[in-house]
Amino acid sequence: MLTLTRRERFNAAHKLYREDWTDEKNKEVFGKCANKNWHGHNYELFVTVKGDIKPDTGFIIDLKWLSAMLQEKIIEPLDHRNLNLDVPFLKGKMCSTEVLTVEIWNIIAEDIEGQGAELHSLKLMETENNFVEYYGPNA
Ligand code: NI
Repeated sequence: MLTLTRRERFNAAHKLYREDWTDEKNKEVFGKCANKNWHGHNYELFVTVKGDIKPDTGFIIDLKWLSAMLQEKIIEPLDHRNLNLDVPFLKGKMCSTEVLTVEIWNIIAEDIEGQGAELHSLKLMETENNFVEYYGPNA
């Protein structure tokens, strides 16, 4: 068994803010991330797939397919968007790095299985110092 990782990048705006809390409570819990007029990040997403080498191609998964699928399902909907306002799969959710990572997993895991491989992990970097890793709902 081997793993293979594809990196994708996107830029997006968001804020961490609950309408059902006061400004003071939002500021206390989320700090600068609660800034009403948004702020942005240069996100980096690492998608790690695991599987065996296919004898006919020598690949775990076709990277061209992986890259095109990620572009269509993840990068296009997220890149240069406002995560709170523009992204259907984040509607009504907190736009934290944790929530975003789980949502990305839910969108792509089955597609990868359909290619005869398995989604092993996601790593989503919000800044170079802050990132989330996810190994799926059963890990
Ligand atoms: Ni932020």
